[in-house]
Parts: sequence; C-alpha cells; structure tokens
Amino acid sequence: MAEFRLPPNSRIGVGKTHAAAGGKRAKAFKIYRWNPDDGENPRTDTYEIDLDQCGPMVLDALIKIKNEIDPSLTFRRSCREGICGSCAMNIDGTNTLACLKPIAEVREAVRINPLPHMPVVKDLVPDLSHAYAQLRSIEPWLQSDTPPPPDAERAQSREERAKLDGMWECILCFCCTTSCPSYWWNGDRYLGPAVLLAAYRWIADSRDEKTGERLDALEDPFKLYRCHTIMNCTQTCPKGLNPAKAIGEIKQLMLERQI
Ligand code: SF4
Ligand code: SF4
Ligand code: FES
Repeated sequence: MAEFRLPPNSRIGVGKTHAAAGGKRAKAFKIYRWNPDDGENPRTDTYEIDLDQCGPMVLDALIKIKNEIDPSLTFRRSCREGICGSCAMNIDGTNTLACLKPIAEVREAVRINPLPHMPVVKDLVPDLSHAYAQLRSIEPWLQSDTPPPPDAERAQSREERAKLDGMWECILCFCCTTSCPSYWWNGDRYLGPAVLLAAYRWIADSRDEKTGERLDALEDPFKLYRCHTIMNCTQTCPKGLNPAKAIGEIKQLMLERQI
C-alpha cells in the first residue's frame, strides 16, 4: 500500500515557546526552524511579542524576535520595502514578502514557513541555486548584433517601451515559482513562472535581436510547456505582476511562427 507520511527525518516537531513578557497586545508567531548542523528534525517554535512594541509588518516582528528573543533565528532581508525580493517566505499559507505583509492581516497566530518545495539552507532561508541557474540559462540581458549609435542610447518608441511594463518590475523573489504545482513536480526541467517572465521580458524588447534564438531555446516539452495555466503564480505575486500572461504570450509566439 502507498505510504503517504513524510519520512521520519522530515516530520516537523513542536518546538519551544517564548512567551510574551507582558503587554496588552500579545501576538504569537509560529516559525519553522531547521538547523542543518544539529542533526535534529525541523520544528515549529512559537514566539509571543507585544504588538505595541513592534512595527506593523511581519518583517518587523522577525527582526524584533531576532534582536530581542532569539538571535539564532535565520532569514534573509535587505531593503524592507519590497524591492530586493530577499524576504520572500510563506506567511499564513501564502508566498509573499515579509516586509510588505501587515501583521494585522493575520487574525490568529502568524504561521511562517520557508518558500515551499525548495531545499532549505537554514530556518526561513531557501536554497535558490537551481532557480538562479535556470535564470542564467535564458541569458537575461540585451543581445544585439547591431552596435548602438556611437553617441546615444538605443532608442525605443513609447509603445515599444510600454511592452516591458509588468515585467521590468519583477524583483525575482520566486514567490510565483514556488507556488506553481508544475514547478513542484518538474522543477528540475520546467523553468517556472519567474524565469519565463524574465525570458519574455527580453523576447518583447524591441532592441533585442535574438528573439528567434530565445524562442528556439524554449521550444521544449518541459522548459515551457509544463505550464498548465493554473494561475497560482499570478495570484501570489506580491508585486501584482502576471507571469501566467507572459507565459501565454510566449506560447502564442511559438504558435505564430509555426504558421
Ligand atoms: S499558470 Fe503556469 S506557471 Fe503559473 S502557476 Fe500555473 S502552471 Fe505554474
Ligand atoms: S513575477 Fe512576481 S512573484 Fe514572480 S519573481 Fe517576479 S516579483 Fe516575484
Ligand atoms: S526586505 Fe527587500 S523585499 Fe522584503
């Protein structure tokens, strides 16, 4: 009979509880913890903090916990304003940016886990090496055989420039990719929504002259066509982008060049 339980070394145990030291507005944060160096299973630690002594965002709470309660808690962050993409994690069941997620939006205890279906480096830090290698594979930079004008930038019309809107804003947080069921099952070969959005950003750029080569490189049953338009990616993007639409545009171009 099929075995549906996680292997013993993957089961998440109940960890420590750090109770709030007074305060009227105590809020619990249940946070995934795993340390590759101690040989222990993952666990969920609970930290109670007084919201009157904390900033409004989930990242504020994580920083407060690390600074005042438990310096071993590990997570990535940098800009704290939704620009760098490094604080991506799963909060209350949804992939998002901790610095843009108001604590007040979570009614009960705030459950925080690393981005799903990625190897974990430690605690809330996912290993994005494979995703970055996939990004490198689509060569995300301008490629043109025509040299630029000697004394000017490569010009674009307003209409050509507008085609890049909704793509240049991507901060490569990988919230979309790690919410995609197709990527969960085929992430070794399917490029996933973040990388395909980046690919379309260069395909759609009027200054790039490698459109044919870029499409050739994506013409593969796994790299592109594992997208089944489930739309989790677009629903979860904390920047309000639409990677599913970009993937649809690539598929449309594939069709058009066959006619
Ligand atoms: S639309 Fe495609 S890329 Fe987006 S979640 Fe669905 S399968 Fe994944
Ligand atoms: S499309 Fe959105 S969710 Fe995906 S990597 Fe870019 S900013 Fe993040
Ligand atoms: S800290 Fe940079 S996006 Fe959250």
